[in-house]
Amino acid sequence: MSTQPKTGRRRTRAQAPAVEIRQMRLDDLPAVFELGQRLFTAAKLPTLYRCWDDDELLQLFNASEDTCFVAVAGDRLVGFALGSIMEKPHSAWRYGWLEWLGVAPAYKRMGVATRLLNKLTDVFIQRDARIMLVDTDEENIEALAFFRRHGFGREKRHVYLSLNLDGHPRNPERRNGQRAA
Ligand SMILES: CC(C)(COP(=O)(O)OP(=O)(O)OC[C@H]1O[C@@H](n2cnc3c(N)ncnc32)[C@H](O)[C@@H]1OP(=O)(O)O)[C@@H](O)C(=O)NCCC(=O)NCCS
Repeated sequence: MSTQPKTGRRRTRAQAPAVEIRQMRLDDLPAVFELGQRLFTAAKLPTLYRCWDDDELLQLFNASEDTCFVAVAGDRLVGFALGSIMEKPHSAWRYGWLEWLGVAPAYKRMGVATRLLNKLTDVFIQRDARIMLVDTDEENIEALAFFRRHGFGREKRHVYLSLNLDGHPRNPERRNGQRAA
């Protein structure tokens, strides 16, 4: 039976169907990928330097299976939190990095991401991480509200600069008066 609401109205937490949080498995990959594709569109990517593709997902899952969690309602995958443990050279500290977090639109504001975050936090603590890291675009208001609500702070700005290489004087195609396809 579908757990999708019949109307566009938001459910209250009391009406929310039971959602289970469990470790991600290999057979969750297609559903996680599909949900991520819906959430992380080009305009809504959390960062410019990472993109949501099957390769990124597979690599993260292969390297960090024990820090990847999913939320399921019945047979439907409704959320995921994919993290990894990071050790920086010359630093004695271990970091727990929450790389991708997403909840299906129909299940937002029901505490699903909070439960995923709590689960991941427990695992990071068990694995001796001292600091948890997240990053997101400064215009991602819902993610910022979520992370701030959960105590994340000490926000640092990172500036991205870009240079268009199509029209660059060193680009031979420009010198020949041709345009890149
Ligand atoms: C950010 C996101 C994961 C939050 O998931 P969620 O399951 O809706 O979050 P929760 O229900 O656990 O929210 C917990 C609290 O965070 C805050 N919060 C979450 N979404 C919010 C929003 N859209 N506006 C304001 N506050 C919000 C609230 O304080 C909320 O508590 P409340 O509902 O009691 O007010 C979800 O909106 C999402 O998937 N966004 C798209 C993907 C994304 O940007 N991921 C983050 C970067 S990887």
